[in-house]
Amino acid sequence: MSAPIPLIAGNWKMNGAGPALAEASAIAAGAPAAGVRVALCPPATLVERMSRALAGSPVELGGQDCHAQPGGAFTGDISAEMLADAGASLVILGHSERRAGHDEGDADVAAKVSAALKAGLEPIVCVGETQAEREAGQALEVVTRQVRASLPAELAGRAFTLAYEPVWAIGTGLTPSLQDIVEVHQAIRATLRDMFGQAGAAPAILYGGSVKPGNAAEILALPEVGGALVGGASLKAAEFLAIVEGAPRA
Ligand code: PGA
Repeated sequence: MSAPIPLIAGNWKMNGAGPALAEASAIAAGAPAAGVRVALCPPATLVERMSRALAGSPVELGGQDCHAQPGGAFTGDISAEMLADAGASLVILGHSERRAGHDEGDADVAAKVSAALKAGLEPIVCVGETQAEREAGQALEVVTRQVRASLPAELAGRAFTLAYEPVWAIGTGLTPSLQDIVEVHQAIRATLRDMFGQAGAAPAILYGGSVKPGNAAEILALPEVGGALVGGASLKAAEFLAIVEGAPRA
């Protein structure tokens, strides 16, 4: 099975209102047409407007979370169907800011992944250890456990993406050593193969956490690194496109 097409996904988090759509338009204008996938995941209020800004460009659109149910009495929540209706084709699930700030466990993430698949969205499932877990030598064990418990069986044969994001590297300017990144990505690949057999070779495994134009190319060139999930550096078109530029082409 050939290597997955690299994906560079921007996670805008709770940043961006109408004026920020100019950055999305600039990213749409500068994104390559083939060889690498580019995606933007804006806050929910921008999804529909951004789908218009990206129309006709190769840039894909994603949400940052969804509810596990398709609808109902869940004030403040958004379903996978609603994201799809607004123009999204992807959704980030299990980001550490959801796991830590909203008490989401692996079973919650797995339920959301199932909901995303039912709505036709491709999930980008995030895993990663805390600083304390890394210092205790538990990074591989934690990440492997999260992968097993966050990915429901029905993902077999479906399109999905993993993102390894060490919690201590997010928004801090810190990154693991290149060797540590490879070690975790290889452990994730081995887990995917164990869970899904041959199909476990298909999903791209992104690295996320303080990816910037200055460090992206060396990270993206590592074995089993199939792209990046980019927070802060995805808010400005020039920075984000510089990261895209450094990605290997399939
Ligand atoms: P960062 O965030 O690039 O700002 O560190 C990454 C993420 O949380 O996805």
